[in-house]
Amino acid sequence: MVTKKLFVFWIIAMVCFSLLRYSESKVPEEEVDALEEITTAMGSTYWKFIGDSCEIEMVGVTLVPPKNSEHEISCECEADGIVCHVVRIAIKGYNLPGILPPQLVKLPYLREIDFAYNYLNGTIPIEWASMKLTSMSLEANQFSGSVPPELGNLVNLTTLMLSSNQLTGNLPVTFSLLKNLTDLRINDNNFNGTIPGFILNWEQLSRLEMHASGLTGPIPVSLSPLRNLLVLRISDINGPSQDFPVLRDMKGLVTLVLRSCNISGEIPDYIWAMKNLEML
Ligand SMILES: *[C@@H]1O[C@H](CO)[C@@H](O)[C@H](O)[C@H]1NC(C)=O
Ligand SMILES: *[C@@H]1O[C@H](CO)[C@@H](O)[C@H](O)[C@H]1NC(C)=O
Ligand SMILES: *[C@@H]1O[C@H](CO)[C@@H](O)[C@H](O)[C@H]1NC(C)=O
Ligand SMILES: *[C@@H]1O[C@H](CO)[C@@H](O)[C@H](O)[C@H]1NC(C)=O
Ligand SMILES: *[C@@H]1O[C@H](CO)[C@@H](O)[C@H](O)[C@H]1NC(C)=O
Repeated sequence: MVTKKLFVFWIIAMVCFSLLRYSESKVPEEEVDALEEITTAMGSTYWKFIGDSCEIEMVGVTLVPPKNSEHEISCECEADGIVCHVVRIAIKGYNLPGILPPQLVKLPYLREIDFAYNYLNGTIPIEWASMKLTSMSLEANQFSGSVPPELGNLVNLTTLMLSSNQLTGNLPVTFSLLKNLTDLRINDNNFNGTIPGFILNWEQLSRLEMHASGLTGPIPVSLSPLRNLLVLRISDINGPSQDFPVLRDMKGLVTLVLRSCNISGEIPDYIWAMKNLEML
């Protein structure tokens, strides 16, 4: 009899225990806390995140989100399906007035960030160089200063969008290490210095946007190593007069803009043979 009762008790205890387990926050508390610190640093006054379902319930500076704003947090679960980690944060178009949060490093599994279309100011935190990011979009904010050379450590970056900010200085030499880049946009900034030769290292690039970046010419004489480019925009470059750069191997080019680059001479014939080209 006693054994039977014990057995029933044991069953009930097991059921309760597993229920408790499943109602537990799936995202570890440290990551939930880090997210709150991060969004606070970014200037968000409303914030509610549901760790169980990995969902943002509230974010921003107004209760009603601005038109065209977007938010998303993605998590990936470990094999046990119980513990899940934040791998992607997108908070776009919320007019957030804060800074770029150094606290991102508290999310060890984070790979992608997208904070485009806010009013974030300050500089790009050096701390980010220790992360394992594959995608970083900071387009259309207000940050300034130079790009930390340490970011060259982010060797798995495929997407880097820094367009429409007030960045100064040159692209650090360490960026020559970012060989996995497929999409790089640095247009509309206040960079100074010349277009570095190491852009030719980025052989995986399919999109390069450098118009009105502030960098000066010349453009490398031959851009042949960038044979995967589909979109190339370079414009408003002061610098010495130069010939049309060699683009012969970019067979897939769809968009080509080389405006106000002090290029003189003839457009080479092979350009007209590019089958996919829609804009010149
Ligand atoms: C960032 O914005 C805040 C508030 O708008 C301001 O106090 C601060 O000086 C700005 N920082 C920089 C580096 O522009
Ligand atoms: C790059 O990716 C590889 C393979 O996924 C990983 O082992 C490595 O730690 C990553 N390094 C960085 C700096 O992201
Ligand atoms: C980066 O490139 C290296 C070498 O080309 C490759 O082994 C690695 O898988 C790439 N990483 C990513 C995230 O694509
Ligand atoms: C280049 O930018 C730096 C700030 O990073 C500034 O101090 C310097 O005066 C600029 N040089 C030119 C030629 O504009
Ligand atoms: C174009 O090149 C010429 C000759 O090198 C130079 O005198 C002129 O200042 C350049 N123009 C611009 C806008 O950089």
